[in-house]
Parts: sequence; structure tokens; C-alpha cells
Amino acid sequence: MSRIAYVNGRYLPLAVASVNVEDRGYQFSDGVYEVCEVKGGRLIDERRHMERLQRSLSELRIAMPMSVAALGVVLHEVVRRNRVRWGIVYLQISRGVAHRDHAFPPPGTAPSMVVTARNLDLPRVETLAADGVAVISVPDNRWQRVDIKSVSLLPNVLAKQAAREQGAREAWFVDREGRVTEGASSNAWIVTRDGKVVTRQADQSILNGITRAVVLDVLAAHGLSLEERPFTLDEAHVAREAFITSASQSVLPVVRIDGRPIGNGAPGLIATALRRDFHRHAETS
Ligand code: PDD
Repeated sequence: MSRIAYVNGRYLPLAVASVNVEDRGYQFSDGVYEVCEVKGGRLIDERRHMERLQRSLSELRIAMPMSVAALGVVLHEVVRRNRVRWGIVYLQISRGVAHRDHAFPPPGTAPSMVVTARNLDLPRVETLAADGVAVISVPDNRWQRVDIKSVSLLPNVLAKQAAREQGAREAWFVDREGRVTEGASSNAWIVTRDGKVVTRQADQSILNGITRAVVLDVLAAHGLSLEERPFTLDEAHVAREAFITSASQSVLPVVRIDGRPIGNGAPGLIATALRRDFHRHAETS
């Protein structure tokens, strides 16, 4: 079965789906995106993803190409046409097509919108969750508005490749003060020796993850103690547990950072419980 993409009003086989060479997403990374988990053919936390999308667009002064309701119809239709059971739906909106000029194009230039969806390898992710994953640390050399979910991801690409080359699943960005900001495509968490769950506060130095928000709800429901503050790489190295969160993998335990085992080197109890209970607290649509 050929995969189908939505491109500016049309559903097309992926092989012929294309955008204009003067699309500003392609020319300048002048666009934003969202990734939503699909489970049992349904969207997880669509409402919150749409809220974050609207925020990203408004921070960059890009217009919504259609209403949130219409966007929801397109997302569900792309999931349906691609027969996604467990996987992701990807949405990208750029500032549109115009002659290449850094400043904004003329008013009225229509934003471009692309939606794709695909199944993911569920058994593989379950194995990763059972075994835990390795993380490396890299300097955080990104711009200062990473709270906007922009498609400008070059530092993330390089960090992720460095992780791959060192046999790790994720790279954690570390700021100039030696404090972890987040992963290349996930939020970063630790559990201290005295059982406190710590993750960086959602300011302009991290992407405010939707999975992160749901995990905060799960923690509250379990009565676990939480500290939203920066933690250092040194603290992470001696943590009892560590884990990462993102839409495509919910909660994944981290068992090694820079080659050093975390806790006893196996997935922690809290990370495992959060993963188990995650979907009970997430919204399905
Ligand atoms: N990444 N931080 C960064 C830099 C991310 O790219 C992501 C998500 C997150 C977690 O956000 P959420 O829980 O809303 O997925 C944090 C997506 C999945 C991606 O780029 O594929």
C-alpha cells in the first residue's frame, strides 16, 4: 500500500507529493511542526498539540492555514488513509512560497501545510523500554527560542547523529552552567537518590513537551514529589533513575549516560510506572 500525504489541500501518494522549491520551510526553515502519537488509530493529546501549534505559529507570526477543527479532520484522514494503528502523525506548516528574500513575504502569502503519518515498530520500542536506553551529553548550541517547535533542527540533527555514532538513543543538551536542558528530540528527567523527580522548568530553554505535561499529571496522581528546576549533568550521573519523554515513545528509561550506568543500570521503578500509566492520563480523539 502506498503512503499518502496531505499537501496544501490534496491527498497524494508520497512518491508524487512535493512542495515548491521556493517554499520558505525549505529555504529558511521558516516553519513549525507537531508530532502526535497515534494509538489504535486514534490521536493522543490532539488538543494540547493543537494549542502548542497555535502558540508556535503566533510566536513566528505565521497564520493558521485553516481552523483547528478542519486541521483535526485532515490529521484523522491522513491517519486513516495510511492505516496507522500505532505510530505518528506529522504536521508541518511553513510561511509559504515566495521569491527568496529573508524578510517576510507579501501579506496574503498562503502558509503551506503538509501532513504525513506512519506506523512505528511497536515491539522495538517495547524492547527499548524493557532494556532502557543510553544517552550522551553534548553542549547546547541552539538558539534561545527552542520553546517554539520550529523545523530549524540542525543542532538536534547533529546531536542525534553523535548519539547514534556512540551507540546511544538520545543526546542530552547541556547549557554553559553544566545543566541539562533537554534531549535532541525529547524532554529529560532524573529521579534523585531521595526519590524526587526533577525536570527543567518549561521556559524558553526547552520545548514544553506534551508528554511532559501528561507525565506531570501522572506524577501528581501518584503523589510523587516533583521539582521543576535545572539539574546538572553531575546530578544526572549519580541519579537513582533517569528517563526521557516524547510523543513517539512516551516514557523511556535511561540506563546509561556518557557510558556510566544510572542507578543499578536497569530501568527504574518510577520510569516504568510512569510508562505503564501514561495512556490512562492522556486524551484520545
Ligand atoms: N520531538 N524536546 C524536543 C527538542 C523535541 O523535539 C521533542 C519532541 C520534545 C518532547 O515533546 P513532546 O512530548 O510534545 O513530543 C522535547 C518530536 C517527537 C520529534 O521531533 O519527532
